[in-house]
Amino acid sequence: MKFIDQAEIQGKKLLFRVDFNVPLDGDVITDDNRIQAAIPTLKYALKNGAAIILCAHLGKPKGKVVPELSLAPVAKRTAELLGIDVPLAFDSVGENARVMAAELKPGQAMMLENLRFNPEETGKTEQARGDFGKKLASLADVYVNDAFGVAHRENASVVDIPRHAKECCAGFLLKKELEYLGDALSDPKRPYVCISGGAKVSSKLGILNNLLGKVDDIIIGGAMANTFLLAQGQSVGNSLVEKDLVNEAIAVMEKAEKAGTKLHLPVDFVYAEDHTATEKSGTCTADAVPDNVMVLDIGPKTVELFTSVIAQSKTIVWNGPMGLFETPAFAEGSFAVCRAIADLDDCISIVGGGDTDAVVHALHMADKFSFISTGGGSFLEFLEGKELPAFKALKECMVK
Ligand code: 3PG
Repeated sequence: MKFIDQAEIQGKKLLFRVDFNVPLDGDVITDDNRIQAAIPTLKYALKNGAAIILCAHLGKPKGKVVPELSLAPVAKRTAELLGIDVPLAFDSVGENARVMAAELKPGQAMMLENLRFNPEETGKTEQARGDFGKKLASLADVYVNDAFGVAHRENASVVDIPRHAKECCAGFLLKKELEYLGDALSDPKRPYVCISGGAKVSSKLGILNNLLGKVDDIIIGGAMANTFLLAQGQSVGNSLVEKDLVNEAIAVMEKAEKAGTKLHLPVDFVYAEDHTATEKSGTCTADAVPDNVMVLDIGPKTVELFTSVIAQSKTIVWNGPMGLFETPAFAEGSFAVCRAIADLDDCISIVGGGDTDAVVHALHMADKFSFISTGGGSFLEFLEGKELPAFKALKECMVK
């Protein structure tokens, strides 16, 4: 893979694919981590005499111009962080964008409007994506991909621009993601522990199957644990559960045993009437969940169990909260896991996914982790062992 510091960029125009898909409340950005994460690469390019054209998506406008999903607040925040103007084009490959790009001078920056306002960006086939990627590529001399969060998407700006760009490289953010998710995990310090949580087993089966045999321990929390408990014949009351995945859960447990990976499931829970509750109704052991209640967090015995496994770890990958952490009454399990990882001195700790990231940031503990991935879906697919379309496209561009 060629990185930006191996490319000749002086006096050139660089088209940067960045992932600035940030949460907004009206036009206020509520979390700018993704923008912050790309700033080092952008500053490097500007300092080394390049002009930069930023392209990104925001939300899912489904090929239509949705004014609420304009990148205007994002361009403004990027300008603040870079300390230079970042004017926003009205479009991405139209007259306005082309004129602005043509007039851009070294050391200057601009941003294209939300790529997904154009239906071709997310077209399912190369034919449906048409010549959008080609038109984007024609705006610049070099294409730089620094958008890990969207690396799993076969979007025009991810896979088609590299087919038409004169030159391609990856940015420092992509490099860091590869270093941590690729290198660190291919030869991990042991014990190597995966902590998996969140609502659905279905979205985590790929990771679990890929990591069985590679990791020493898998901790399972969140509602996805319910499906495993059901598979062990336990009742889970009215809790969230994927009944159709019980056989898959059994297969994971059998495979784990054969592969020598220890699975750790909750032994107790905090429960309430349903997910709208703001207070807990009680605590129960995992083999005695009352009917008509929902388990919404792991209980104190489980916290003890999980934190004792974490305390021995030398490499940790964490994706998915332990419960409904957005409600304070059900946040303790996720917070306890976060604190236990943050307390470790000699451990490579990697976090991925928006919810897990939110837990870490809620406790202001981001600096206690080795690496917080900017990927959600891409983080999961990478850990499933898949080759992500962005990396394939970059490699192909580099050999052409
Ligand atoms: C993300 O937020 O995970 C990335 O920006 C990808 O967004 P998408 O799921 O809308 O493609």
